Amino acid sequence: MFPLRVPLLAVLVSVALSQYNDYYDYQPNFMQGPSGPNCNQECDCPINFPTAMYCDSRKLKFVPVVPTGIKYLYLQNNQIEEIKAGVFDNVTDGLRWLVLDYNQITNAKIAKGTLDKLTGLEKLFFSYNNLTEPVVPPSKSLDELKLMHNMLSKFPSGLLTDKENLTSINLQHNQLTSDAIGGAFKGPKKLLSLDVSHNKLKKLPAGVPSSLEILYADYNEIDSVGAGYLNKMPSLQYLRISNNKLVDSGLPSGVFNVTSLVELDLSFNKLKSIPEINERLEQLYLQANEINKFDLASFCKYVTPVNYSHLRHLRLDANNITQSSMPYDSSNCLRQLSDVILGSEMALLLSLLCTLCLVGQVLGQDMPYEEYMAQIQACPKECRCPTNFPRAVYCDNKGLKSIPKIPTHTWYLYLQNNLIEVLSADALRNATQLRWLNLNRNKISSEGVEEGVLSTMSQLAHLYMDDNLLSSVPSPLPASLEHLLLSRNRISKIPAGVFLGLDKLNLLDLQGNKLMDEDVTEVSLKGLNNLVQINLAKNQLSSMPLGLPPTTTQLFLDGNNIDKIPAGYFKRLPKMAFLRLNHNKLGSSGVPKNVFNVSSILDLQLSHNLLTEVPLISSGLEHLHLDHNNIKSVSGTNVCPVAVDTVDDSINESVPRLRYLRLDGNEIKPPIPRDVILCFRLLRSIVI
Ligand SMILES: *[C@@H]1O[C@H](CO)[C@@H](O)[C@H](O)[C@H]1NC(C)=O
Ligand SMILES: *[C@@H]1O[C@H](CO)[C@@H](O)[C@H](O)[C@H]1NC(C)=O
Ligand SMILES: *[C@@H]1O[C@H](CO)[C@@H](O)[C@H](O)[C@H]1NC(C)=O
Ligand SMILES: *[C@@H]1O[C@H](CO)[C@@H](O)[C@H](O)[C@H]1NC(C)=O
Ligand SMILES: *[C@@H]1O[C@H](CO)[C@@H](O)[C@H](O)[C@H]1NC(C)=O
Ligand SMILES: *[C@@H]1O[C@H](CO)[C@@H](O)[C@H](O)[C@H]1NC(C)=O
Ligand SMILES: *[C@@H]1O[C@H](CO)[C@@H](O)[C@H](O)[C@H]1NC(C)=O
Ligand SMILES: *[C@@H]1O[C@H](CO)[C@@H](O)[C@H](O)[C@H]1NC(C)=O
Ligand SMILES: *[C@@H]1O[C@H](CO)[C@@H](O)[C@H](O)[C@H]1NC(C)=O
Repeated sequence: MFPLRVPLLAVLVSVALSQYNDYYDYQPNFMQGPSGPNCNQECDCPINFPTAMYCDSRKLKFVPVVPTGIKYLYLQNNQIEEIKAGVFDNVTDGLRWLVLDYNQITNAKIAKGTLDKLTGLEKLFFSYNNLTEPVVPPSKSLDELKLMHNMLSKFPSGLLTDKENLTSINLQHNQLTSDAIGGAFKGPKKLLSLDVSHNKLKKLPAGVPSSLEILYADYNEIDSVGAGYLNKMPSLQYLRISNNKLVDSGLPSGVFNVTSLVELDLSFNKLKSIPEINERLEQLYLQANEINKFDLASFCKYVTPVNYSHLRHLRLDANNITQSSMPYDSSNCLRQLSDVILGSEMALLLSLLCTLCLVGQVLGQDMPYEEYMAQIQACPKECRCPTNFPRAVYCDNKGLKSIPKIPTHTWYLYLQNNLIEVLSADALRNATQLRWLNLNRNKISSEGVEEGVLSTMSQLAHLYMDDNLLSSVPSPLPASLEHLLLSRNRISKIPAGVFLGLDKLNLLDLQGNKLMDEDVTEVSLKGLNNLVQINLAKNQLSSMPLGLPPTTTQLFLDGNNIDKIPAGYFKRLPKMAFLRLNHNKLGSSGVPKNVFNVSSILDLQLSHNLLTEVPLISSGLEHLHLDHNNIKSVSGTNVCPVAVDTVDDSINESVPRLRYLRLDGNEIKPPIPRDVILCFRLLRSIVI
C-alpha cells in the first residue's frame, strides 16, 4: 500500500547530484605506463583502456586531432578557445563521450564540420565555457547534455527533437529567459532531469516532456506557477523553485497537490501562507518566506489511520512563525515528521502516533551588534548568510569541493549536497559554537574526517552526515550531541567506546550501512544512556542487536536478514513502543511464544517475513502489520490477547487496543471471523 520508495529515491538523488561524479567514477584506475600506439602525443591513452584519451589539465590551446578508435575523450581544464576543422574526422561515428568543461570556447570558434558531425555521441559535457548558444551534436544517442556556467541567452526550439535517449540536461548558471527557451525541451521522451537554476526565467519552462522526474529552477525570477502545470508531469518527484519571487497570488489553489512529488523546495520566496500539498510529499522547504500562520489543512484534509501526511522534513525557519503557531493536534496529521525547523526553535515530532516531543533549547534571538557585524562580514563568498537569521550559514547545493572558512558566531551550518571530501579542522577552527551541522550528500570518507574536528564543537546537537562515504562512525564526538544521522554510508565499524559520554544522544540513524551482528554489541553501544530512537534498517544483521539501552523507544530493523528473536528480548527494553522488522526472514519458529506480548509495544511491523502464524500480542498493541507473510488463517482464539468471551460489551481498560491490522498478502481467505471482530472492538481498519 505504501510502496517502498527509498531505493528509488536514492538513485534519483544521485542522478540529480552527479555533476561530475560521472567521469570521476568512470575514470579507470589506469596504470601509469606507455600510452597506446595511436595516441596523440599531447595526451595519454592508457594501454589497458585504449578507447580513452586523457588530454585534461595540460594547458592545451586547441583540441588535438583525435585518432581512430577513441570513444572517450577528456579535455577538461585546459585553455582551449578554438575547435579547428577536421579534429574529429576519424571518430565522427565512434566518439561516445566528449568532456570539454573548464575551457574558454566561444561559438564563433567552433569550426563547421567538427561537433556537428558527431553522430554517435552519448555524453557532451561543455560546462564552464564561453558559449552564447547551445551546441547540440546530431547524435540520436545523446543521453546527457551539460552546458552549465556558460553565457547562453537562447535555446532555439527543435534542437532536441530527435534525442530519444536524452535523460539529463544541465543549463544552470546561464542567462536564459522564458522567451528564449519556449519549446526548447520538446522531443526527448525519456528526459528525467532538467536543471535551469540560476537563469532569468519568469516562469517554469513550458512544454517539458511528461517523463520528467527532476526539475530544478532555483534562483530565477519566477513569481507564479500556472494552474495545472504539474498535472502535465505525472512522474515529477523533485521540484525546486527556491530563491525566486513566488507570492501567494501566483500559486493557484492546489497547484502543488500532486501525488508524484516527494520533495518541494519553495524556500527564499515571498509566500505568506503554506501552500496545499499532497499527503505523499516527504520533504517541504519553506524557510525564509514571510509565512505567518500554520494551517494544518495545507497538509491534511482528512486524518485516519491510513490517511495522513507522509512529510518527514519540514523547514519553516526564518519566517514570521513560532512553535506556538503550531497546532496542538499536528502530530495526528504529521505523524511521520522527523524534524520541523521553526525559526530558531527546533521541534522534533518523534512518534508515529501522537506523542509530540519537543527538544532543543529555545535560542535567544539577540546577538550583540559587534558579533552581528563580524558574522555578516565573515560570511564566506561561496555561502549565504541571511541578515535576518545571522547565526545561519547556507553553503548547500554549491558544488563545493571543500569547506570554506566558517565564521565564529555560526550556530547553524548547511553544507549538504556538495562534493566535499574532507571535514577540515582548519576551515572549522573558529566554528566552535555550532549547534547544527548538515553535511548530507557529500563525499566524506572516514579518512576525510580530520583529527578532533568534531570534538571541539562543544554545543553541537545535530550532526547530519547521511549519504557520504564513511566506513566507520566518526570519533571522537562531542558530548552535546542529540541527533546523529549517518544513513547510507558504508559503515562497517562502530569503534569501541565511541558513544561513551554521549548522554544526550537520543536519535541514532545508521540505516543503509554494512553493519553485521558483531558490530552492534554491548561494547560498541556503551554510553548511549538516553537513546530513544535507533534505526538499523538495511544493514547486514542476522540477529537482533545486543546492548540497546533500556531507554530505547523506537527500533527500526527493516531489510536485514533476521530470522529469530531471543526469548525475553524485550524484557530489557521496557520502553519499546515502535518496532519495525519488515523485510526480514522471520519464520514462526524464530518467534518465541511471548516475545511480542509486551505491554509497552504500540506499533509492531512484521510485513514481508516468513511467518505462518499470527504471533501473540499484548492488549496494548495499537498497530499490527503482518502483510506479506505465509499466514493461512486467523481466528479469535489464536489472535485475541485475552479470551474472546471475557471481552464484554462495555468498553473498558481490558479491551484490546488494536486499531489497525494488516493481513493482506497472506493466504487468508475472507471473511474475517466474527470472533476477531468481537475481540478487537476498537479496530478502525483491517486490510486483508
Ligand atoms: C585517420 O584515418 C586515416 C584512414 O584510416 C588514416 O590514414 C589517418 O592516419 C588517420 N588519422 C589519425 C589522426 O588517426
Ligand atoms: C571567457 O569568459 C571569461 C569570463 O567571462 C573571460 O574572462 C574570458 O576572456 C573569455 N574568453 C574568451 C576567449 O572569450
Ligand atoms: C536508446 O537506448 C536504447 C537502450 O539503451 C538502445 O537500444 C537504442 O539503440 C538507443 N537509441 C539510440 C538512437 O541510440
Ligand atoms: C489534494 O487533492 C486531493 C484529491 O486530489 C484531495 O483529496 C486532498 O484533500 C487535497 N489535499 C489538500 C491538502 O488540499
Ligand atoms: C483516505 O482518503 C481518501 C480520499 O483522499 C478516501 O477515498 C479514503 O476512503 C480515505 N481512507 C480512509 C481509510 O478513510
Ligand atoms: C508577524 O506575526 C505577528 C502575529 O502573528 C503579527 O502581528 C506581525 O504583524 C507579523 N509581522 C510581519 C512582518 O508580518
Ligand atoms: C578565526 O578567527 C580569527 C579572528 O577573527 C581570524 O583571524 C582567522 O582568520 C579565523 N580563522 C578561520 C580559519 O576562520
Ligand atoms: C501476555 O502477557 C501478560 C502479562 O505479562 C500475561 O498475563 C499473559 O498471560 C500473557 N499471554 C499469554 C497468552 O501468555
Ligand atoms: C472490564 O472488563 C472485564 C473483562 O472484560 C470485566 O471483568 C470487568 O468487570 C469490566 N469492568 C468494568 C468496570 O466494566
